[in-house]
Amino acid sequence: MPQSPFRHDLLHGKVALITGGGTGICFGIAQELARHGASVVLMGRREEVLKEAVASLHKEGLKAAFVSGDVRDYGQAEKAVATTVATFGRLDILLNGAAGNFLCPTDQLSANGFKTVIDIDLLGTFNMTRAAFKDLKSSGDSLVLNISATLHYQGTLMQAHVMAAKAGIEALGRNLACEWGEHGIRVCAIAPGAIGDTEGMRRLAPMGADKKIAAEVPLRRLGSIQDIANAAVFLSSSAASYITGEVLVVDGGAWLIKPALVTREMWEKLAAKSPRA
Ligand code: COA
Repeated sequence: MPQSPFRHDLLHGKVALITGGGTGICFGIAQELARHGASVVLMGRREEVLKEAVASLHKEGLKAAFVSGDVRDYGQAEKAVATTVATFGRLDILLNGAAGNFLCPTDQLSANGFKTVIDIDLLGTFNMTRAAFKDLKSSGDSLVLNISATLHYQGTLMQAHVMAAKAGIEALGRNLACEWGEHGIRVCAIAPGAIGDTEGMRRLAPMGADKKIAAEVPLRRLGSIQDIANAAVFLSSSAASYITGEVLVVDGGAWLIKPALVTREMWEKLAAKSPRA
């Protein structure tokens, strides 16, 4: 287990419900929240995957349970919240991580393909958040943490459906930060860049594209699940108690940078010919 930069009991007594928590980035977040003292409930569609994930947390001696369900269904969102409160007595952190994604040029995307991603990502985030309101309010010091992306900060080809969904999630989060602040509910998001060893990278950056991305990121590497989990632990902690409505981009600077029109080598040749030209 890597050494954490945070105090081990930072989230002691907190209860978190994590959608999409059975695998990948959201499992990594669940694991890290639990390692810092939180009790976690993993929600997803595949019971077998959830069972295995919870067993691995139990093996570490962490407090974890699961509830199977689809975030697109409001009744199942309510059931997940009720199960969390029945199991661990409260709800302090709702992490909306369930997401669907695939590459598809928009002229090939069906209306149902577009709707499916909007339903999982955006409607799913609304359903879970709305269903959790009463318990987040009872907590008095709670957080809705949405997983966004950086795709919609520019025009990302073949990702119109996800761009639309994530832009909606960020807008919804800003609204709720304002409406629900008075109830002690903070609403934040993390926008991960390209994160290595994930389903997303396998789907969205096949055929060696991951190496090309890593070479172009200002910090010169892909992100890790740990990078995202650390951001989630920070935002879940009292160190972030005055931060709401904010999207924390964790991408090594990737979305900021444009391809250079003039490379450094070209500049050196030009400079050698005519210094200060
Ligand atoms: N390209 C284009 N359209 C696609 C697609 C793809 N790769 N995958 C699904 N769709 C379309 C389907 O064709 C269908 O539309 P249609 O009825 O017009 O044909 C629609 O999306 C629904 O597909 P379906 O497979 O029935 O939905 P689902 O709810 O079972 O699947 C997805 C959900 C679409 C998110 C699926 O890709 C999935 O389960 N992905 C794994 C999880 C994931 O993506 N994680 C995120 C990693 S970043």
